[in-house]
Amino acid sequence: MKVIRTIDEIRAELRKVKRKKTIGLVPTMGALHAGHVALLEAARAECDVVVMSLFVNPTQFTAGHDLTRYPRDEARDVQIAEDAGVGIVFAPEASELYPVGFQTWVDPSERELEETFRPGHFRGVATVCLKLFNIVKPRLAYFGQKDAQQVAVIRRMIRDLNLDLELRVIPTVRDADGLALSSRNVHLTPEERERALLLPRALATRDLQQARAMLEGLDVDYVEIAELEPKALVGAIRVGTTRLIDNVALEGDPE
Ligand code: PAJ
Repeated sequence: MKVIRTIDEIRAELRKVKRKKTIGLVPTMGALHAGHVALLEAARAECDVVVMSLFVNPTQFTAGHDLTRYPRDEARDVQIAEDAGVGIVFAPEASELYPVGFQTWVDPSERELEETFRPGHFRGVATVCLKLFNIVKPRLAYFGQKDAQQVAVIRRMIRDLNLDLELRVIPTVRDADGLALSSRNVHLTPEERERALLLPRALATRDLQQARAMLEGLDVDYVEIAELEPKALVGAIRVGTTRLIDNVALEGDPE
C-alpha cells in the first residue's frame, strides 16, 4: 500500500492502472472506526483499486475549535487502511488542496438541517469531494448513510454537474449499545455517552412526535423528517461540547 501526499504523484500512480480496472474512492477525514472500514470493505469487494483519502478538510468546519480538536492518528489510520485492502492512501497537506489564491467553490445551495447549524459546511464538503473526484477519477465513490444529508448533497452534485461516477451508500454502523460510530464519540465521557444514546433510541421509534418527546430537555439542534432518498427521520443534538448526528430511514427495510 502506498501513502501519497501530492496531486502529481497520485495522478502518476493512477495512470499506471489499466483502463479496464475499476477505481473506488472512499473519502475520509481519518480517525477511522468500523463505519469507515465498512466503506473500505464494500469498495474492496467491487473495485480493483481502492483509494482512501485521509484529509481533515478545513473548509467544512465552521467553528475553528472543532477543527483543531478533530482526532488525528495517521499511523493508526494507515494501518487500518492497509488491513482493509486499500491500495493507495491519499493524505495531502491542506496547502496541496487549498494553495494560496484558491477561490473557486461548489455551492450546493443547501439551506436546511445541518446547514442551519453549520453554515458553509456543505460548500466545503462538496468542493473537497469534487476536487477528490477530479484527482482520483473513481468509477465508484463510497459514502455512509450516517451522514444522510451529505449523501443527498453529493448525489445532487453528481447529477447537477454531470459527474461520471457512481455513488455507493453504505448503512450506518453502530456500537452494540446503538450509538452510531463517529470519530467525535471519543470526546464523550461515560455519563455523556448515556445521554447521547437517547438520540438513536428516539430516532428508532421512527415517529417524529415520539422522538421529539424523548429528547425533551436535551440540547437539540433539530429532529425532523427529511425528504431525502430514502425519506429519513434525522436528528442532531449536543452533549457537552460534542455534537452528534444520526438518522433512520422511514422507507424501505429498517436497518
Ligand atoms: P468522515 O466523517 O471521516 O466520514 C467518512 C465517511 O464515513 C463518510 O461517508 C461517512 O458518512 C462515513 N461514516 C462515518 N461514520 C459512519 C458510520 N457509523 N457508519 C457508516 N459510515 C460512516 O464525512 C466525512 O468524513 C467528510 O465530510 C468527507 C466526505 C471525507 C469530506 O471531507
